[in-house]
Amino acid sequence: MKILIVYKSYHLMNTEKIAKAMAEATNATLIRVDEVHPEDIAIYDLVGFGSGIYGGRHHKELFALVETMPSMEGNVFVFSTSGSGNEAYHRPLKEALTAKGCHIRGEFQCRGEARFLKFIRTNRGHPDEKDLEDARTFAKGLITA
Ligand SMILES: Cc1cc2nc3c(=O)[nH]c(=O)nc-3n(C[C@H](O)[C@H](O)[C@H](O)COP(=O)(O)O)c2cc1C
Repeated sequence: MKILIVYKSYHLMNTEKIAKAMAEATNATLIRVDEVHPEDIAIYDLVGFGSGIYGGRHHKELFALVETMPSMEGNVFVFSTSGSGNEAYHRPLKEALTAKGCHIRGEFQCRGEARFLKFIRTNRGHPDEKDLEDARTFAKGLITA
């Protein structure tokens, strides 16, 4: 099973940690969103799309990728790290993927540390080891499902 994980992470590289854990657990190819060729996505059996949540949704570069990639009836999953860990943030990206013909096979989210101004710091230490283990378990579950 060929698996690709595409991600965008820039604030504290929280989502990158989750993406790496998932890739290691499943032997997936891991690629940053700015490195992926939209037309290559269709050759994979399963593609994960993930980023931090910024202003209530995934990073705009993920939406741009989904917009430009060819329509495909492939299997996909979405994941995120965010301040609140709210899965409802996934809806816009899931809708964009579904509109492309993709089948959503699962979704994963966890809290990620965030720093605002100089002194506001939330979710310190997240993703932590348990978050990473949860991500590995989730990703492995997609393979056997
Ligand atoms: C500009 C900005 C906007 C954010 N907006 C939200 C938000 O709307 N909801 C939320 O729960 N967290 C929000 N966060 C927190 C991030 O989702 C969280 O820190 C995430 O783990 C960052 O991922 P990254 O380190 O992979 O970039 C925001 C963070 C930044 C920097």
